[in-house]
Amino acid sequence: MASSGEKKLFLRVLDGQKTSVPPIWLMRQAGRYLPEYREIRSTAASFLDFCYTPALATEATLQPIRRFGFDAAILFSDILVIPDALGQKVGFESGEGPRLDPIVTAEDLGKLNPDILNGKLDKVFETIDRVKGQLPPETTFIGFCGAPWTVASYMIAGRGTPDQAPARIFAYRNPELFAELIAMLVEASAAYLVRQLRAGVEVVQIFDSWSGVLPVAEFERWCLEPVKAIVAKVRAELPDARIIAFPRGAASHMIDYARMEGLSAIGLDTAVDPVWAAAQVQVSLPVQGNLDPLALLAGGPGLDEGIERILSAFGSRPHIFNLGHGILPETPIANVERLLARVRRPA
Ligand code: CP3
Repeated sequence: MASSGEKKLFLRVLDGQKTSVPPIWLMRQAGRYLPEYREIRSTAASFLDFCYTPALATEATLQPIRRFGFDAAILFSDILVIPDALGQKVGFESGEGPRLDPIVTAEDLGKLNPDILNGKLDKVFETIDRVKGQLPPETTFIGFCGAPWTVASYMIAGRGTPDQAPARIFAYRNPELFAELIAMLVEASAAYLVRQLRAGVEVVQIFDSWSGVLPVAEFERWCLEPVKAIVAKVRAELPDARIIAFPRGAASHMIDYARMEGLSAIGLDTAVDPVWAAAQVQVSLPVQGNLDPLALLAGGPGLDEGIERILSAFGSRPHIFNLGHGILPETPIANVERLLARVRRPA
């Protein structure tokens, strides 16, 4: 709770209140655009070692809060700690992104250990405990996981791809096996989010970064239904849990996502027209987004116009200011400062 027992700005919006100035945080706000991150990142052998070292992950979580005073801190970790905890081999090639031993056969799937709370993620929960004790009282703490489809797409391809074709082909050819993998990820993700909330995060976000590549039937089966199931499971254990879903690229299907039971907010990606979203998304559901990360990188009048369009479209409803996808490593710090000053200027 913020000092004097007042509810934090971010939580007020998630609980459906319209505020005169929106709370602001940025997806991937901890990371390579920060010199102080690059400095501590170079002290760990690998990216996963960094994520599993509570002193480093705590520091990375707090860095953007110290520098910018965002309204929320997001746990420093990665969506691919789930496959790692399930027993798939996961690594990060510097500069090239994730590399996993791809799941190809039923046997590969059978080797995974579905019990996500097997000790492998204890360092993540320790990080949550450390961060919790160090956050300013007005700052909200966000945990997260990847949505099953997004995580599965890396598990099948073994790496990032432009359109997740390997997982899409796999799901068409082996729908039963793919359904088994998705079911395992639903259980694991729900247990993981509940454990994060119990450890001290106040909100969780489900990143469905690749929901935009699927046709409608597959979108419903592999994105919408599994995320609905996670939300229901988390709420069955923790009825007051606050949950944000981010279906990137879902276009008009975003509305189906927004209508699911139990969400606290819907994250909008860069391509969603804020005026359209303001008219389509039920007013009772707070919206989060959706400045183009490239507008932030570029700065200048394009940045100012982008900010104004979003503020004016969402001016009369509960809104959390964010980017439409993660901040890019080349983003100048001065542009982030300018964004904050403009969003927080007195009305
Ligand atoms: O600041 C934060 O938002 C918290 C930490 C965070 C990271 N990854 C750190 C990270 C979060 C929330 C994520 C989510 C994530 N990870 C997603 C979903 C969001 C999105 O951007 O779509 C996805 C798809 C991943 C998987 C992943 N992790 C990829 C594809 C890559 C390589 C590409 C890249 O940006 O480097 C990563 C690595 C990664 N995750 C880095 C960071 C800071 C960079 C690695 C490094 O610093 O060495």
